Amino acid sequence: MKFINQMEPSFNEQEKNALNEYMEAGGWITEFKKTREFEQMICDYTSAKYCSVVSNGTVSLSIALMACGVGVGDEVIVPDYTMVATPNSAELIGAKAVFVDIDRSNLCMDFNKMKEAVTEKTKAVLLVSINGRYPSNIDQFVNYCKEKEVSLIEDAAQSLGSFCNGKHLGRFGCIGSFSFSAPKIITTGQGGALITDDKELFEKIKKIRDFGREGGGSDHYLTKGWNFKFTDIQAVIGIEQMKKLPERVARKKEMGKLYKKYLSDIDGIELIPTDLEQTAPWFFDILCERREALIAYLKEKNIGSREFYPALHAEPAYDYNGSYPVTEEIAQKGLWLPSSINLLDDDIRKICECIREFYQ
Ligand SMILES: Cc1ncc(COP(=O)(O)O)c(C=O)c1O
Repeated sequence: MKFINQMEPSFNEQEKNALNEYMEAGGWITEFKKTREFEQMICDYTSAKYCSVVSNGTVSLSIALMACGVGVGDEVIVPDYTMVATPNSAELIGAKAVFVDIDRSNLCMDFNKMKEAVTEKTKAVLLVSINGRYPSNIDQFVNYCKEKEVSLIEDAAQSLGSFCNGKHLGRFGCIGSFSFSAPKIITTGQGGALITDDKELFEKIKKIRDFGREGGGSDHYLTKGWNFKFTDIQAVIGIEQMKKLPERVARKKEMGKLYKKYLSDIDGIELIPTDLEQTAPWFFDILCERREALIAYLKEKNIGSREFYPALHAEPAYDYNGSYPVTEEIAQKGLWLPSSINLLDDDIRKICECIREFYQ
């Protein structure tokens, strides 16, 4: 059996032909018409009014924070369980990441813990919809942040194609941020996007990503800005990938159902509740006993897997004291199973059989 990667990007002739056509036509290569077209497709899909595509999903978070006026010395609340880019995006602009524990039922930030962490220095909350899941009380986050005049920014890097009550994730906060890095549901190699319905924020975002320029090509700088721009080469790929998004979302949901069907009765494994009507799982995740041994067993059978992120507060990069019991537990038990869009039903069946064998 060929090795099954835990995740791999997927592209075919469509991306190749579109790139070829673009290069033949002699495009400008840097961000231009194709980038605007890609942004419009993201607006159409998410129903957001405005979209700005940028270099990656880390700087998109930093840009979102800057656009909301967050800066040096301000505090930004983040979940302890997330990809490290979430806190790092705050630290990049001189703000301090403040970690809070997560809710075990959806692995998103715990609302009450978030409230306890708010101080007079808190300027923003980065709410991560981890693996396409959303907090069941997302409206409470929205209302509380409004009341406290704290910017609610959604890190929806893993959530393109996922919704909450029919509304696309990333549209509950003032800005939503996405990533198009290689393992995401659609990829442009690297890339990020910000969506918002707020024109003023959108205008700020456009300037921050382009040196603070008044407009394209102008050398008049209205604000401090940097080069966080995209390229039309990536946009050409992104456009083709976006065309495939609806079918990928449907397939991810089908795959989620299959994993659930095959794994739900295995002792030693816990499935995390997933609303497959709304969520297109990014990775298929389990909490498991004897994780190290399971990883080794799967590897022997040519099956890749990946451990969950660690509890970030305890990583050498942060080394903060504090008690984050839910994150600490799931960081030790969590495992991502093969999740590429190219997996066949039969691959999933075989992977699950191997897991069953291991626990028997
Ligand atoms: C939750 C989360 N936030 C931010 C990022 C950063 O995105 P990028 O890798 O595009 O910088 C990622 C990437 O995986 C992520 O999963």
